[in-house]
Amino acid sequence: MIGVFDSGIGGLTLLKEMMHTLPNESFLYYADTENVPYSYKTTEQIKEFVEKAVVFLRTEGCKAIVIACNTATNVAIEYLREKYDFPIIAIQPAVKVAFDNNSGNKRILACATPVTLRSDRFENLINSLDINHLIDKLPLPKLVEYAEKEIFDGPEVLKYLKEEFSKFDLEKFKFVVLGCTHFTYYEDFIRANFPNLIPIDGNEGTARHLYNTLFTLNLLKSDEKGTLKFIESGKYVVDEGRFWRYLEK
Ligand code: DGL
Repeated sequence: MIGVFDSGIGGLTLLKEMMHTLPNESFLYYADTENVPYSYKTTEQIKEFVEKAVVFLRTEGCKAIVIACNTATNVAIEYLREKYDFPIIAIQPAVKVAFDNNSGNKRILACATPVTLRSDRFENLINSLDINHLIDKLPLPKLVEYAEKEIFDGPEVLKYLKEEFSKFDLEKFKFVVLGCTHFTYYEDFIRANFPNLIPIDGNEGTARHLYNTLFTLNLLKSDEKGTLKFIESGKYVVDEGRFWRYLEK
């Protein structure tokens, strides 16, 4: 079984990709719904929440754990990898993919939570790739709140995105990196309303990375079809309807 962690329902966008890449694996999805959104928490609090979830998932028998949350990754991944010796896979934001495909040297908009954008880890990633200073950063914390309320489109979301994007001359941009798993729910909405922008997320690359890691460690399962269960802040979910609705989105 593979444990998947996010502060809320954002990580389900990555879970869907991983279930597609690894159809025989069983997954245990942990949403820290008592504490979402992490944007307004301190790094110490976030570290504590993430460690609690990781220990829970490991105790339930997970052979590997995926941190399907950029915010948690940027705050806690080094700490966790130092302390625990089981495989912990982290979501990779698609910044490199944006650079690799950025013909014409257009500007790149990196959207994430304020915690991610402030973090040394994210800053180091950008500095290692952005030699020509093409990246602009934009925090979009409200998208996390909209997603948690199941508001995926409509005038309120459009007004918010228009206001935020209007801080930039969009004609100069091509890729919008969605560096928060909650933002993936808005990919189609962004494409439809801001046609010159191409939104990209790190889900496919991360799912591939999980596959490669399990393969290398000889931990892949290849028999019957996998199962899926959900946890909310340490308790097994009985009414799974909300989770399945998000997965089907
Ligand atoms: N889904 C999380 C991420 O990828 C963030 C959400 C939060 O603010 O709790 O960054």
